Amino acid sequence: MTTEYDLAGRKAIVTGAAKGIGHAVAERFLKSGAKVDIWDRDGKALAAAAEELSKLGPVHPCVLDVAHGHEVEGAVDDAVDHWGGIDILVTCAGVLGQVCPTPDYPEDEWHRIIEIHLTGTFLCARAASRHMLEQGYGRIVTLSSDSGKEGTPNMPAYSAAKAGIIGLTRGMAREFATRGVTVNAISPTIIDTEMGREAAKDFGEKALSRIPMKRYGQPEEIAAMIAWLCSEEASFTSGTIFDATGGRSHY
Ligand SMILES: NC(=O)c1ccc[n+]([C@@H]2O[C@H](COP(=O)([O-])OP(=O)(O)OC[C@H]3O[C@@H](n4cnc5c(N)ncnc54)[C@H](O)[C@@H]3O)[C@@H](O)[C@H]2O)c1
Repeated sequence: MTTEYDLAGRKAIVTGAAKGIGHAVAERFLKSGAKVDIWDRDGKALAAAAEELSKLGPVHPCVLDVAHGHEVEGAVDDAVDHWGGIDILVTCAGVLGQVCPTPDYPEDEWHRIIEIHLTGTFLCARAASRHMLEQGYGRIVTLSSDSGKEGTPNMPAYSAAKAGIIGLTRGMAREFATRGVTVNAISPTIIDTEMGREAAKDFGEKALSRIPMKRYGQPEEIAAMIAWLCSEEASFTSGTIFDATGGRSHY
């Protein structure tokens, strides 16, 4: 049984919405009455997602790379023109990146991962928050990871980017606290998506043994947390990093 939070008429941007967690978030938002701008750099997957999701409600797809500031600025302007404003931003775009010992980790891979996750989250939040602050209402949810809290061996850039997203989220939350805009993050362990299955190949049995519930999470379980955080009712919670780890809480 699903509880629908009231997002009627809310205008949302979900990045990385062609697949995985972003797709589940877009689906949940549409079922809750929102209008959703779905962003992804994989044009083919995004077109397929748009066709499927548009059966649930109004969607507006945009192919872009979240690490490119001018593309993000243009896409936010386009979303504002299309919907008449922006109330919600959820940043799910991301890649796992190379898994390799830190002494051998390539410098260009370091920059690529930091740019997609950390710079990409900043660029999206920077552009969307301008509109939210102006209207005095907004909900931003970022995607961190348990890698950002406890660190994952052989994933220095991913761990650092996800820790950076925690700092960025908390900083914005305090900065926007009196202006109607909340900013929170989700910090999942392995979730059953394309990326999660890729991670499970590298960390599988060990990762599973450390999850008290003895299973990976489902993208719909993350979408459920995000739906509440993006509702008007979630009005006194900001700067919080929510674990989604099947009972392995961090801090
Ligand atoms: N799945 C997990 O186990 C897990 C665990 C912790 C955190 N996360 C985080 O959750 C978020 C979503 O992950 P997921 O599991 O849904 O991944 P996924 O691979 O299923 O989907 C990610 C989507 O992001 C898109 N994308 C990647 N780079 C992009 C870019 N530069 N610009 C625009 N779009 C881009 C991809 O095309 C894809 O559609 C990521 O930030 C990830 O780091 C995932």
